[in-house]
Amino acid sequence: LGCDHGGYELMQEVKAYLDKQGLEYQDFGCYSNEAVDYPVYARKVGHAIQNGTCDKGILICGTGIGVSIAANKVPGAYAALVNNVYQAQRAQLSNHANIITMGSQVIGIELAKQLVKEYLSVEWDPNCRSVAKVQRIIDFENEE
Ligand code: RB5
Repeated sequence: LGCDHGGYELMQEVKAYLDKQGLEYQDFGCYSNEAVDYPVYARKVGHAIQNGTCDKGILICGTGIGVSIAANKVPGAYAALVNNVYQAQRAQLSNHANIITMGSQVIGIELAKQLVKEYLSVEWDPNCRSVAKVQRIIDFENEE
């Protein structure tokens, strides 16, 4: 998990939800409402994915956009901004995203918890039609 000051309050709600579900997580900050720079926390979560410390990531900032852009700069991190249930499911099913990002200024607490639930409830099918497209993203990344 990672957030900036804009996402801090919502992240506490997400943490409470994960606790209730008995799901393990690591919190890479930030740890208060004090203003911070979102790329720092997005990068920490990206690195946790990259080095295998974590399987999946959740990032929250004001819009969800900044943390998404920043996390996607870490090779191996594939972050998807999700605003609705369909996107939360497809982020995994179509895109094999290993991070979802959300905007605290965009969605409410209950929807955020539902998006986390939906994202975590679906599994990537390694034989699905999206595999070749996702592989092209990885190939392009390796060529950069
Ligand atoms: C605040 O720094 C705000 O810009 C941030 O939370 C986020 O919305 C950026 O994309």
